[in-house]
Amino acid sequence: MIDRATAEKIKDAADIVEVVSDYVHLTRRGSNYMGLCPFHNERTPSFSVNRRKNMCYCFSCHKGGSPVNFIMEKEGISYHDALLQLAKKYGIEVQERQMTDEERMRQSLREGMLVANEWAMLQMEHNLTETQEGRDIGLQYLSHRGLTPEAIKKFHLGYALDRPTALADAAKSAGYDLEVLKAVGLVGVSQRGNLYDRFRGRVIFPILNPAGKVVAFGGRDLKGGPAKYVNSPESDIYKKNRELYGIHQAKNEIVRQDKCFLVEGYMDVIGMWQSGMENVIASSGTALTDGQIALIHRFTENITLLYDGDAAGIKASLRGIDMLLSHKMKVKVLLLPDGHDPDSFARVNTPEKFREYVKAHETDIIRFKTQVMMQDAADDPLKRSDAIRSVVESLACIPDPITAKVYIQECARLMNVDEETISTETQRMRVKVLERIRSERRHESEKERIDVELRQKEAPDPLPKHERTSDNDIQKKGQEPAAKPESRLYPLERQVVRYCVRYGMMDFCEGVDEGGEAVWLNVAEFIDSEFRADGVAFSSPTFSSALETTLAMKARYKTDAERYKTARQPEYDEKRRKGIDEIAEKALDLNMIAYEEKMLDERIDEEMWNDLRLFSAEYTGRMLASHEDDGIRRLANECINDTPPLSKRFDRLGQNLPEHERLVELLPRAIDELKQGIIRLRIDSLMKEMRDCQQNGDTSRIPEIMQEISHLHQLQSQIAKAIGERVISPIR
Ligand code: CTP
Ligand code: MN
Repeated sequence: MIDRATAEKIKDAADIVEVVSDYVHLTRRGSNYMGLCPFHNERTPSFSVNRRKNMCYCFSCHKGGSPVNFIMEKEGISYHDALLQLAKKYGIEVQERQMTDEERMRQSLREGMLVANEWAMLQMEHNLTETQEGRDIGLQYLSHRGLTPEAIKKFHLGYALDRPTALADAAKSAGYDLEVLKAVGLVGVSQRGNLYDRFRGRVIFPILNPAGKVVAFGGRDLKGGPAKYVNSPESDIYKKNRELYGIHQAKNEIVRQDKCFLVEGYMDVIGMWQSGMENVIASSGTALTDGQIALIHRFTENITLLYDGDAAGIKASLRGIDMLLSHKMKVKVLLLPDGHDPDSFARVNTPEKFREYVKAHETDIIRFKTQVMMQDAADDPLKRSDAIRSVVESLACIPDPITAKVYIQECARLMNVDEETISTETQRMRVKVLERIRSERRHESEKERIDVELRQKEAPDPLPKHERTSDNDIQKKGQEPAAKPESRLYPLERQVVRYCVRYGMMDFCEGVDEGGEAVWLNVAEFIDSEFRADGVAFSSPTFSSALETTLAMKARYKTDAERYKTARQPEYDEKRRKGIDEIAEKALDLNMIAYEEKMLDERIDEEMWNDLRLFSAEYTGRMLASHEDDGIRRLANECINDTPPLSKRFDRLGQNLPEHERLVELLPRAIDELKQGIIRLRIDSLMKEMRDCQQNGDTSRIPEIMQEISHLHQLQSQIAKAIGERVISPIR
């Protein structure tokens, strides 16, 4: 977890232009930068980046926000991960902060799952060698397949006893929570509601993550049943598409040799390990995913795919190579003699022979693909052009232009097509391919996001409900319904909170503190004092906490504003010096100089004042737009990106007054409108109560109700009048 101070530091360091430039080509347009929107397909740029606001925004699809928002959206990652990514970019060291109860709960759930898996792994290792059943069935099988005791130990192979609840029972008596065993999938629940061991009667292959934690198991059938392998379901600790079998045992050797072998199965990894090749990992029978490639990429760029030399193997080897190429991996392929998988080949060859074979037969994947496809097409012109297109597609996936060029030359030669043509086609294909890869990646992360959401729905609520507080006056008094988007108060509250979120830190008017002293209130404080005066509060919890957060921002704002002022000062000093030089050159007499200098000072003061004013006007929105709370952040982005209606009032230069200079009229009106709305609702409900009383013949309460209604009517007209004549002394 990132502590608050570090989070702020990261947000301060993140420059929107720099961040966006990693993804979008930007060109300068006045004080803004423009580019093609990365969130939707377009031909003319509508994506605008504003360095001063440190925000970006697409005028066409309306996506954008702070640097953090941009990264979240673009990478499809969480707020936390986006901060980490920015921290990395700006070389900021991230410190851990204390976790909240909820986070601690999640964390300890995850830890509990890992502990349970670790225990189960040891338990099943024990079964394999220390029980009669394990030795007779499991160990017997593994020895029959030629596995050595060292390999069995190295890969922590085990055996699950063939009784319906052997593991569940052992877990229970060892004091493990069965819920946790269910969560990791070691124990399942049958349709009739009975518990059963998922892996019973199988040989067990634990799946370790790079750090050596047991995240899942694969269990091989020994009785010719329908499912050769049963694997752990996905869970909080197991994301199938991010793990690779064998990575923990292989990673050091992968780094040392700067190369890894990719095979299909558990047995292949172990067979090759026995043959002295330790840099081997398995994709478990599926094509590599983006996340798995990223994992490999942490250790090496060089990968050799090992397949059976039959037609199916050849086809499989060509699957997924575009994804690998797009990750800048250098990919080779090695076909084993027909009918062999790495495991069987390792068993019939000495390690030396195996290594020699590798050296002699490893082929660059693009060369391999070209040869295979051209052979396949032979003289069929249609097949030939399909083959060329497919090769070009792979070429288009190579990110490095120099590498790509070398390949283009070679492939052109192999396919007997001129280089120019291949080169142009590759260029053309590149856009399409990038889009496809991007969408595949999006798809993967989208799938993951949905998985997580679903799991969170299933997970028990980690906080008891009554601990959630609602700091809402109106709700507490039971006077008004909560302002849901469909409620009548919602637009009125939204209007007020918008001013708070956009302009909260701007100085607004003079007020008095508790001791009767005159103080300046900023926009947020003004809203707060108006609310308190009439016992009003936002009924939306998000709005409430946005106001609280803004109020709490003041100290930080003061420091930041001071710092900003100091940083800008030299510029204005310089301007003043230049101005004075000019005056001295032109001036005819001392009076003239004095007058001109006075004018100059006024001009510069005004400029400075405007500068600071703008800083203060944009400060709150900028801060809240990258706030850690999802609700506040979303609200801030909405509020910042809407376009305020144009004013009919003009400044002395004939410009429309910007909204932040019209708050004096806008804000009190918005607050009064909200108060009016609340009163109207209150009157409505009193009227209803009165009708009910009449219908029920219960007339005793009617005078009381009528009195209250008339009081509310009075309030209404007072507020209406106040809207017209409220006297506020704006700053300056
Ligand atoms: N696999 C799986 N479920 C299956 C079949 C295969 O999860 N029903 C995965 C396993 O990870 C397996 C890999 O695909 O290791 C490769 O499959 P295969 O070659 O059939 O398995 P081997 O590991 O080679 O096992 P064996 O040699 O014992 O048949
Ligand atoms: Mn096999």
